[in-house]
Amino acid sequence: MARIFLIGFMGCGKTTLGRKLAAKLNYTFYDLDQLLEEQAGMSVAEYFSSFGETAFRVAEAEILKQTPYAENAVISTGGGLPCFFDNLTWMNTNGQTVYIKLSPKTLASRLESGKDERPLLRDKHGDELVAFIADKLSERESFYEQAHIIADGLGLSAEKLAGILKL
Ligand code: S3P
Repeated sequence: MARIFLIGFMGCGKTTLGRKLAAKLNYTFYDLDQLLEEQAGMSVAEYFSSFGETAFRVAEAEILKQTPYAENAVISTGGGLPCFFDNLTWMNTNGQTVYIKLSPKTLASRLESGKDERPLLRDKHGDELVAFIADKLSERESFYEQAHIIADGLGLSAEKLAGILKL
């Protein structure tokens, strides 16, 4: 059995890499934000504005722990998920965790488009966006770095990732 949890900041490529990795390994792919959207019948942005961040954190933790994953699965998580409750310990106990690491500058340039679906970033641009990411990342990195594997996200492909994993 292999369950691989991809963690890291918004924009690091968890969903894109996760989908490709799952296809390559012939594993089932899960995107926790997408599962939440399907179950709630609304987007993450709508969820934040209707119920607030605290309710979102409770809902995403429930989805993490209650999804009946296939034996072999690649699971992409929301950027904040490892930093709340005991989610990170739970993932470390129930699978292999991989932190996809990128610098605030690289994240900001990837996030400049696609910010609108991300309620935490919506109103930020340019240097303000880089500063916000640097700040949030420094709060979150002590969680992310507890992952079993830390992978440099620059130029990371599903092939490279498959080579790093201990399967
Ligand atoms: C969040 C990241 C998002 C989503 C929500 C909150 C965060 O997921 O869960 O907007 O707190 O970093 P992605 O990392 O998939 O964008």
